Amino acid sequence: MNNAVTKGQFITVEGTEGVGKSTNMAFIEEWLIKSGKELIVTREPGGTELGEKLRAVLLDAKEQSMCDDTELLLMFAARAQHLQEVILPALNAGKWVLCDRFTDSTYAYQGGGRGIKMSSIAELEQWVQGDLRPDMTFVLDLPIDIGLERAGKRSAPDRFELEKHDFFNKVRDTFLARAAVQPDRYSVIDASPSISDVQQSIQVVLEKMV
Ligand SMILES: Nc1ncnc2c1ncn2[C@@H]1O[C@H](COP(=O)(O)OP(=O)(O)OP(=O)(O)O)[C@@H](O)[C@H]1O
Ligand SMILES: [Mg+2]
Repeated sequence: MNNAVTKGQFITVEGTEGVGKSTNMAFIEEWLIKSGKELIVTREPGGTELGEKLRAVLLDAKEQSMCDDTELLLMFAARAQHLQEVILPALNAGKWVLCDRFTDSTYAYQGGGRGIKMSSIAELEQWVQGDLRPDMTFVLDLPIDIGLERAGKRSAPDRFELEKHDFFNKVRDTFLARAAVQPDRYSVIDASPSISDVQQSIQVVLEKMV
């Protein structure tokens, strides 16, 4: 393994419901550890004690009165805490950070899905993150029906999973549109084949990063 990259990299895994984010997070984690990387694994919304409380509110299917701006601001509130408490200290210590969802999900769900202006999200992104952006974002891409079917087999739907197909198609389109304009920062992975085929595609990208 070459050691050309000594600085920790910030990797995020994105996609609509049930595309296999958690499944492939575990694969990426194991692969990076085998490659000798020191890494932390975390998720959004959440990743801190306070952030996990905000996550519970955000995902609560009974929380039907939440307005769109509240949802957006809670996402960034949790993110601010996550960055200060977990992500920045790890990156500053030279560790790799692997995060299940990050700001691309905010653009996709609150922007594409809910219809909040992308420029408002960009302002919050700049405020909370400064210039920090992930080094690599895997966008796992799958038709909405298949993802919802995979996710549905697992647990009761959360507040987002109650949304309609039209909402998720806008979310999916937003991930793909963002990846298309910045191809160096994103890898769009076809999540429809078998788990091992998906992981093979991810591995090709990881091999170029270490
Ligand atoms: N390539 C695949 N083919 C078939 N089934 C898969 C594949 N990848 C993951 N799965 C299965 O689909 C289900 C959902 O996967 P997973 O929980 O990893 O998705 P997720 O994107 O993390 O979902 P969520 O958006 O709810 O967090 C799991 O039961 C998982 O085993
Ligand atoms: Mg998951």
